[in-house]
Amino acid sequence: MVRKLLVTGGAGFIGSNFVHHVLSHTDDHVTVLDKLTYAGNLASLEGLPADRFRFVRGDIADADLVDGLFADVDAVVHYAAESHNDNSLNDPRPFLDTNIIGTYTLLEAARRHDRRLHHISTDEVYGDLELDDPARFTEHTPYNPSSPYSSTKAGSDLLVRAWVRSFGVRATISNCSNNYGPYQHVEKFIPRQITNVLQGIRPRLYGKGENVRDWIHADDHSSAVLTILDRGVVGETYLIGADGEKDNRTVVELILTLLGQEPDAYDHVTDRAGHDLRYAIDSTKLRRELGWTPQYQDFDAGLRATIDWYRDHESWWAPTKDGVEAFYASKGQ
Ligand SMILES: NC(=O)c1ccc[n+]([C@@H]2O[C@H](COP(=O)([O-])OP(=O)(O)OC[C@H]3O[C@@H](n4cnc5c(N)ncnc54)[C@H](O)[C@@H]3O)[C@@H](O)[C@H]2O)c1
Repeated sequence: MVRKLLVTGGAGFIGSNFVHHVLSHTDDHVTVLDKLTYAGNLASLEGLPADRFRFVRGDIADADLVDGLFADVDAVVHYAAESHNDNSLNDPRPFLDTNIIGTYTLLEAARRHDRRLHHISTDEVYGDLELDDPARFTEHTPYNPSSPYSSTKAGSDLLVRAWVRSFGVRATISNCSNNYGPYQHVEKFIPRQITNVLQGIRPRLYGKGENVRDWIHADDHSSAVLTILDRGVVGETYLIGADGEKDNRTVVELILTLLGQEPDAYDHVTDRAGHDLRYAIDSTKLRRELGWTPQYQDFDAGLRATIDWYRDHESWWAPTKDGVEAFYASKGQ
């Protein structure tokens, strides 16, 4: 069956990857609702089939706009968020407006129109693990968020669960580990280091670089979300991960090596306040119950492809690069 999907935050990093994925793997029609904050970029949505794709600029907290859009679609995939931890330490307010009130607004529309909704969330809601702890996050790990960003995402997850239970909203949730791939804003760790090296700037590593992230390619995240939308059980939460644990120092050294530089040609800078130590995802439930498997099993190959994308798309990232570096420089990072 051909569906009409509403994708919130579809001009952002993961949302735009999902829109490209859906339009190339299905016959579905997609409407993107995006406010185009500093993180949204229409250039990430170029080249999509005009007969199956439409863009609406607006705020997910605008109840009237949201109501009209819900009336006209079959299902909603909710990516829109304020997503950057460092910004949430600087100014938490937009995180509450979008991640909490915005999600509430979508849930109320889903309730009114009885629409299927999939809520995108993060493994950061679980807090962090010790570096030497063999444990990984599962769907049963208690919530323990550290930052204004992760606490507002945790709050939005709880709202979704409450609207499922109290009002019968047909929603699912996924919590994914750190994504990498094309169309990611240069403020984020991997694109920042890649574009630094491409511009002849030395990469900057927070603290000692021991913090571990569980990397997944954005295209694998997209295939997982489509799987959950197709076959997920309403009311359930699924963890998405691809067994890609790497510490930040290893990632920086790999980027330098893949770009033909000495692996130690980077600088250590002041660590992020409250920096989570380690995230690790156990995605057994999604793999066993819904039959999903990631395609990018080789991190080096995925990173090489991502580096190639940034090298080939300088016009996409160059306009924001100086502003991002000025922001970090003001914090000594
Ligand atoms: N990046 C990751 O590694 C990662 C991992 C797991 C989960 N997530 C989750 O995935 C989602 C997308 O993350 P991302 O990295 O693509 O973020 P992003 O910052 O790149 O994109 C967010 C998008 O949402 C839009 N937006 C922000 N506020 C809005 C509002 N009020 N109304 C409408 N649109 C608005 C922005 O314009 C932007 O296009 C988030 O919910 C995030 O929590 C991200």
